[in-house]
Amino acid sequence: METVRSADEIRNWVESWRLENRSVGFVPTMGALHEGHLALVRHASQLADRVVVSIFVNPTQFGAGEDFELYPRSEEQDSELLQEGGCHLLFLPEPSTIYPDGHSTYVEVETPAERLEGEFRPGHFRGVATVVTQLLNLVRPNVAVFGQKDAQQLAVVRRLVRDLHLPVEIASHPTVREPDGLAMSSRNAYLAADERTAASAIYRSLSSARQRIEQGERSAEAIRHVLSEVLEREPLIDIEYAEVVEADTFEPIRRIRGSIVMPVAVRIGTTRLIDNFSLEVDG
Ligand code: PAF
Repeated sequence: METVRSADEIRNWVESWRLENRSVGFVPTMGALHEGHLALVRHASQLADRVVVSIFVNPTQFGAGEDFELYPRSEEQDSELLQEGGCHLLFLPEPSTIYPDGHSTYVEVETPAERLEGEFRPGHFRGVATVVTQLLNLVRPNVAVFGQKDAQQLAVVRRLVRDLHLPVEIASHPTVREPDGLAMSSRNAYLAADERTAASAIYRSLSSARQRIEQGERSAEAIRHVLSEVLEREPLIDIEYAEVVEADTFEPIRRIRGSIVMPVAVRIGTTRLIDNFSLEVDG
């Protein structure tokens, strides 16, 4: 595995692969890699001949008072994991490459970025859309892989790529979970032991809601109630939202049918966690 830091180096590597007729898969990350990220890398290597992974803790997607400074950084360990995990090229852009002095261009997606994460983390998706656009332009992959755990981010990226006619395929990979169902996340490292135990209620709430839908419940309000009820039984959890939305727009729905997502965001102590289940439901 090679490691590069500059825009010229990443362009040259990818260009050399193109000349050899090799396709390029890309996995953008913020580092602190876990099995969830490695599953994205494996998926990318099934879809393309060469795999590029970027690690960049993007300041513009963190709001004031969020965990940008604290966000776990483990470059050496990440590099070893990627080396073993099938990555060909690690891209570690300098902040000055992404945000040079005088940088003043941002990418703003409206629907599906306005609700939920958009409301609770104002400016978050503007930061994500801006950095993802830049990374896609720097790497120019054939396919980029995103995790389904960040379902709204995935919907935002799909919309961005469609609306701006970016020449890349967006692929996704299912959420990788701990044995008790907790979605793998770099932020799980913040949880104290009792908080970690409490966090498994997120998966239980999503599973209960899915079961009710499978049993025939089609009222979104009833399903929101199931989600909240299970989460509320856990005293360490504060719910930010527990929703049922249409999968492309992230607009709340009344009747459950077609492609839906049940996104959940909670706070446990000072840690904020998100998760979701996506379902295809017959009318
Ligand atoms: O999902 C993430 O890790 C980040 O939001 C991303 C896509 C790498 C952009 O910074």
